[in-house]
Parts: sequence; structure tokens; C-alpha cells
Amino acid sequence: MARITLRQLLDHAAEHSYGVPAFNINNMEQGLAIMEAADAVDAPVIIQASRGARAYANDIVLKHLIDALAEMYPHIPICMHQDHGNNEATCATAIQFGFTSVMMDGSLKADGKTPADYGYNVAVTRAVVDMAHWVGASVEGELGVLGSLETGMGEKEDGHGFEGKLGHDQLLTDPDQAVDFVKATQVDALAIAMGTSHGAYKFTRRPDGDVLAMHVIEEIHQRLPNTHLVMHGSSSVPQDLQDVINQYGGEMPQTWGVPVEEIQRGIKHGVRKINIDTDNRMAMTGAIRKVFAESPGEFDPRKYLKPAMDAMRAVCRQRFEEFGTAGWAGKIRPLPMTAMAKRYAAGELAPKIGVTRQAAE
Ligand code: G3H
Ligand code: 13P
Ligand code: ZN
Repeated sequence: MARITLRQLLDHAAEHSYGVPAFNINNMEQGLAIMEAADAVDAPVIIQASRGARAYANDIVLKHLIDALAEMYPHIPICMHQDHGNNEATCATAIQFGFTSVMMDGSLKADGKTPADYGYNVAVTRAVVDMAHWVGASVEGELGVLGSLETGMGEKEDGHGFEGKLGHDQLLTDPDQAVDFVKATQVDALAIAMGTSHGAYKFTRRPDGDVLAMHVIEEIHQRLPNTHLVMHGSSSVPQDLQDVINQYGGEMPQTWGVPVEEIQRGIKHGVRKINIDTDNRMAMTGAIRKVFAESPGEFDPRKYLKPAMDAMRAVCRQRFEEFGTAGWAGKIRPLPMTAMAKRYAAGELAPKIGVTRQAAE
């Protein structure tokens, strides 16, 4: 079965200059939609579950769901990733339930609300890296706090996200500190803050460089050309999905997400993992609203969950194509976590800092 670690998948993506969308799941319908899209275009997959998703779906259900998806699609490498782990225990139990990768989000304290200081972030991330690498799992860290440069506010998802207002010093990752962070923690991938936030309400206008600071990605990539960068809050919040929801009784105020062209620009500068949840939530909600509005007598969940899956599959497929992920699944030979553990122990996977990509190879 084709379970893959984040590190192996992103190393491949970097070698071939593509990005991989990381789609959040909470249930079977979302899992099937992602896999059908991946199968249609031969794309490797990152599926991620938040703490909220694990609580909602149950760890045992999720574990068997991922096993089932891997058995159905043995030719598609699947990375199962913990999204926004808040402490060591969340990350350890994710690995226990079959995840091949974890995010230790030490930008916030364990309550998921309080911005943490740099020392705390380094220490907790390093502790998770040591534990995960012993068993071959990958670790994503985060430096800088996700939130809007327009308002200084974070968008809370299921209790995760800071409260109050922050300044640009905390909302933008410092490139020099990023070098120190990767060196000190040995993370496999680095999530950075540059103006994106979770949820649908990211920008009050089509974003420009003042509110979506893509130049920060470019500066970090220059200093860390061998580090895989991660963009959170990267739903594009497409106008057509907003329109469908509102046409069928929804009340979403006009909003803007991260344009796909900006993500593509990021992929040219080291972005390898792109987190997307909201677009899929919106696609499913629009399709369900349409069925409810057009067939108010309908009460068989399959009659609205099937269109919801169709709508989500279309979004996933589009992102696989837009990020260049399509066509690579069959070319990857996933290594078991035990083999990755040996590579870490041998020092083969330590971050290459201050070396250009070519010189590093
Ligand atoms: O981290 C953000 C994702 O959209 C997950 O959201 O915590 O509501 O599952 P959630
Ligand atoms: P969106 O809310 O933009 O989809 O971001 C999801 C995310 O970053 C999950 O970690
Ligand atoms: Zn996120």
C-alpha cells in the first residue's frame, strides 16, 4: 500500500518543481472525492486532519478510512498528515494512528490561541522532530502567526487561531529567523506567515502585495533554497462557489481568497505544500444547498452528498492540475517509514543550509 511520508513526497516535488495541495478531511465523502480526483489525473496526495477532524471522525474511523483509501488506490502515494498539532501528544498519537507526517504548530501555545515566543516554538518543535524522526515520520513547523495583514486579526477555525490583534512583526515570518529555526529544529517543511488566514474571509479586495506578501516567500527561499515551504490558508475562495452558495439561500458576504496565480508564483519559489480546506467546504455546501433548494422534498442523504462529492472532486482535480501535481503519482516509489527512519539516523536528511540546491545534490 502506497503510504508515503511528507518528506519523501516534497523532496520529489522539489526535484520536479511542482506543488502538492494538502486537502483537509473530516469524513468518507471528502476522502473519496480527493482520491477519485487524484486517480483521474495520477496525482500523489496529501490528506490532512485537524484536531477537530480527529475528534469529529474518531481516530479509529479515520485510521481505517485511510487504510481503505490506500487499498482502493494502491498506485496513488498517500501522505496522511496532522494539521496544526498543538503539542507533542497530538503529534505522537497521530503517528500511532497511521499518520506519516505531523505539523507541530509552535507559533501558538498548546491552547491554540496564545501566540508563543520563539524559544517555546523552537523547543516544542525540536522535541516533536526528535520523536517523529526516530520512527521515520515527517515534521512541518510554523514560524510566524497566521493572520490578516489588513486587520491584524486571525481567523479562528474550530478553536484554533489567535485571539485579538497582532502587528506585522508577528504576522510576517522573518527570513533570518527562518534560517535559524530550520537549523535549530531540523524540520522537514516550514509553514510561513505572509498574510493568509484560515477560512473564507481572507481579504476584503483582490489581494495585492500589501496584504498578500509573496515577497516574504521569495526572500525565505533565497536564504533556504532546500527547505520545503508551506502555504496555509491558501483557498482561493472562487467567485463561482460564493455565487452558488448565495444563489441557493446562503448568506456569504463578498470576499477574496488567494489567487491561484499567486500560489503558482510561490511554487516557483520553494512552496511545495498548499493547504486547502475552505474551497472544498464551499464546493460541498453549494452543491448541497442546490439540492435542498431545488428538491425540498428530498431526504436521502446520498441525493445531496453525491453532488457534494462531485463538486469537491472538481475542485481537487483543478488544483492538482494547476499546481503541477498531476502525472507524478506513478513515478514515485514510496519508502516505508522504517527506511526513512534509517535515512534520518544516518544524517542524510538533515537540512542543507547555506547551500544552493545544485551544490546540495
Ligand atoms: O486549520 C484549518 C483547517 O481549515 C481545519 O479546520 O479545525 O475546523 O477542522 P478545522
Ligand atoms: P483554508 O481555510 O484557506 O482552506 O486553509 C486551510 C488550512 O490552512 C489548513 O491548515
Ligand atoms: Zn492551516
